[in-house]
Amino acid sequence: MAVILVTGGMGFIGSNFIHYWKKHHPQDHVLNVDLLTYAGNKDNVASLVGQAGYEFVHGDIGDEAHLSQWMQKGVEVVVHFAAESHVDRSIHSPRDFVMTNVLGTQSLLAAARQHNVKKFVHISTDEVYGSLGDEGVFTEKTALAPNSPYSASKAGSDLIVRAYYETYGFPAVITRCSNNYGPRQFPEKLIPLIITRAIRNEPIPIYGDGLNVRDWLYVEDHCSAIERVIQDGVPGEVYNIGGHQERTNLDVVKSILKELNKSEDLIHFVPDRLGHDRRYAIDSRKIQQELGWVPSYSFETGLQETIQWYLKERTWCERIADGSYRDTEEVDH
Ligand code: NAD
Ligand code: DAU
Repeated sequence: MAVILVTGGMGFIGSNFIHYWKKHHPQDHVLNVDLLTYAGNKDNVASLVGQAGYEFVHGDIGDEAHLSQWMQKGVEVVVHFAAESHVDRSIHSPRDFVMTNVLGTQSLLAAARQHNVKKFVHISTDEVYGSLGDEGVFTEKTALAPNSPYSASKAGSDLIVRAYYETYGFPAVITRCSNNYGPRQFPEKLIPLIITRAIRNEPIPIYGDGLNVRDWLYVEDHCSAIERVIQDGVPGEVYNIGGHQERTNLDVVKSILKELNKSEDLIHFVPDRLGHDRRYAIDSRKIQQELGWVPSYSFETGLQETIQWYLKERTWCERIADGSYRDTEEVDH
């Protein structure tokens, strides 16, 4: 049995990762450390509460002393998802992003190093590379050129992780993934926002001309990539993760409206996001060739799965809409 500490496991990707890991490695013990910010939703892992090999720790990645207590439980692997993750919020409150993403990551690294963790997987983003024109892709060698306070704070966290490897030989690996979508994504992000608004026949805000391009990856494929990095990723290395599924935002919204049988009249063009990155596209040949990872979902299949999930999980959506997902009594499990 291995003890694996996951940060941000109440959020979108972290909770999907915990479900994935418990399904494929049921013998392991997962410690889920999460601060329960607005993005942390206990409903995301409610089915695991009380199960052997799962424990929730309410805590801040910036609290090194608290983290250190939990690391003493024989933690071998840390998978670090916890972050402020939404670009629009970073434009209005950049400081929160620096505090959590940069300083929080450094505190977590310090606690993990003190307890000789065997592998530290830092979950980063393709946004640290900045924006592309019509041509080209991001490789692991692309220079960092973040444009938003969010991506700048993630780039800062990548650099402190890198420094822990170079300075102390700390066994850290960095992954940089493209846009994820799938079950349990907070409906401030484009795809769940479109789905939940379309279901309620509410207007869908599309920034600028709607022709910005994102490279979409179904969250389960991201989880299987992280699994390969935990198993065989080489310390000090960076692995890009993406599924070669580029779509404009307008393509995405039209596909969802078609699937839900809703009118395109719901689309409302609104003023553009400040500093809006035009296009992201990931070259993921390194993880495919060196670690043998292959994504399973096409965008069309993943999108259908996602839409069906939101249609089925009406209570999950309603508890976010009325705020009650944050009301549950706080208990550490
Ligand atoms: P999310 O916003 O859904 O979840 C973030 C989680 O972190 C929440 O549960 C929140 O409560 C927790 N958290 C925030 N601050 C914390 C703190 N100080 N201490 C402990 N927990 C804290 O985010 P997500 O979309 O699941 O993204 C997870 C990670 O993956 C982030 O690091 C993000 O940068 C990265 N990433 C996301 C995407 C994407 O498309 N969503 C793509 C590539 C990389
Ligand atoms: O590329 C990986 C990144 O993807 C992650 O690191 C971030 O955590 C994640 O939030 C995501 O960032 P984006 O800014 O690309 O995602 P978002 O869902 O916010 O927006 C996707 C695109 O849709 C972007 O071009 C902005 C546009 N958009 C978004 C919203 C919320 C709209 O047109 N209207 C909207 O209402």
